[in-house]
Amino acid sequence: MKIGIVGAGFVGRAIAKLALRAGHEVMLSNSRSPNTLFSLKPMIGCEIGSSEEAVSFGDVVVLAIPMSAINGLPVKALQYKQVIDAMNYYPERDGIIEGLESNTLTTSELISRVIPTSHITKAFNAIPMTQLEQDGSPRGENNRRALPFAGNDEQGKKIVTQLYEEFGFEPFDVGSLSESWKFERGRPAYCVRMNKTTLEETIKNTMR
Ligand SMILES: NC(=O)c1ccc[n+]([C@@H]2O[C@H](COP(=O)([O-])OP(=O)(O)OC[C@H]3O[C@@H](n4cnc5c(N)ncnc54)[C@H](OP(=O)(O)O)[C@@H]3O)[C@@H](O)[C@H]2O)c1
Repeated sequence: MKIGIVGAGFVGRAIAKLALRAGHEVMLSNSRSPNTLFSLKPMIGCEIGSSEEAVSFGDVVVLAIPMSAINGLPVKALQYKQVIDAMNYYPERDGIIEGLESNTLTTSELISRVIPTSHITKAFNAIPMTQLEQDGSPRGENNRRALPFAGNDEQGKKIVTQLYEEFGFEPFDVGSLSESWKFERGRPAYCVRMNKTTLEETIKNTMR
């Protein structure tokens, strides 16, 4: 598939490398300009572009930017797109964001207010990128690491399931977008290595 990535930091680059390795086409973008990503093209083999171009390029768009930047997203280009939200809320970086502090909204629900027609699936947020690049293993391997995802769109869930499998992880469906708080920052399942059985048990026992 064609994957457009908004954000070319740790997350954007890690997902780009793994997706290219799995045979997908990728365009990376950042907030400055494609010129600042010039060396990435020969180094990892991706396309580079503006964030509008990356969104238009992708059948699937990965959001890999700080939460503080969501109001700068190319809203029009994102209409009706399949979107993977890999973001987390860190107030010390993003500033205080109403709704997220009071735990009344998940980060993905807040993003869905900015891009209401996009089909958002929350994924890739609960693993450090160094581990995403190193901890994958073949399907069927004993104790394979599981990663959570959540969303309201079946097609979005299929896409994430495929990518998790290709990157070497056991997909675990947590439920709807409103349940994605169960693996947001600071929750027991956040950035802790677990197999599918342990992850399922941990998510089941996670209280708000
Ligand atoms: N690092 C991890 O292991 C990890 C794991 C899971 C989830 N996350 C979450 O994923 C998100 C990205 O993390 P990161 O570690 O990759 O951050 P990072 O290394 O700081 O990279 C952020 C990227 O976002 C770009 N950006 C910022 N505002 C933008 C905008 N309005 N439009 C387009 N691009 C924009 C930046 O481009 P410029 O440099 O040009 O501004 C930069 O390329 C965060 O929400 C983080 O909490 C991180």
